[in-house]
Amino acid sequence: MINIRSDREIELMKQAGHINYLTHLELRKHLKPGVTTNELNSIADKFIRSHGGVPSCLNFEGYPKSICISINDEIVHGIPSNRKLRNGDVVSIDFCTGLNGYQSDSANTYIIGDAPKEVVNLVENTKKALYIGLSQIKPGAKIGDIGHAIETFAHEHGLSVVEELVGHGVGTSIHEDPDVPNYGEAGTGITLKKGMVIAVEPMLNLGKKDVAILDDDWTIVTMDGSPSAHFEHTVVVTDDGYEILTGDKD
Ligand code: MF3
Ligand code: CO
Repeated sequence: MINIRSDREIELMKQAGHINYLTHLELRKHLKPGVTTNELNSIADKFIRSHGGVPSCLNFEGYPKSICISINDEIVHGIPSNRKLRNGDVVSIDFCTGLNGYQSDSANTYIIGDAPKEVVNLVENTKKALYIGLSQIKPGAKIGDIGHAIETFAHEHGLSVVEELVGHGVGTSIHEDPDVPNYGEAGTGITLKKGMVIAVEPMLNLGKKDVAILDDDWTIVTMDGSPSAHFEHTVVVTDDGYEILTGDKD
């Protein structure tokens, strides 16, 4: 079932999304070689709670930490640990924040220091792919329009699209209907309506699209070891387009 959210519910989700956004900004200050992913997890957990929010990845389907940090060939759901960030790492930070029973979900990818041009392009183009996907959103558009736009852009830039993981509806739960794939045919799938809230989250790889899961049963990696990037926003369908609930254009 796809929920249509009232103006009041959207206002609450915007408040949750704002804390999520502020937490991303806080984390950015600490992204330097030598910081451990556990330290970043703890900074985010404290920051979210001090703003009255709930770090809702923690214990979600048994996930053991408050945020996901996925480095280099890790695509999503990397578990914070004693691993230290190093110069050249491609670091995706993805997490959900709840407030008053409503959820928000967003992700960003950063390069620590310098990386080869092709890796910089991977990250920049994955961010662009998110906004190209979002630009399809308006009442009457189809869910497939989003994935088609993302996939076309990715392929034009020599990047592959992860298919095993998809975007999703967001509401009182982190994961609601509908699925929002990052690939597909334009004009297919469910019709978007005002008040639907979805998370769009392209995951693009520099190499092949195939993925594997690590022994921790969470971390998804590229099969060929190539780097991967991930950007995500939670948005609401408005009268004539969409509004981002998890921050502004960064
Ligand atoms: N943004 C992630 C997703 O949509 C967050 C899931 S929370 C986790 O898959 F705890 F399961 F990682
Ligand atoms: Co998500």
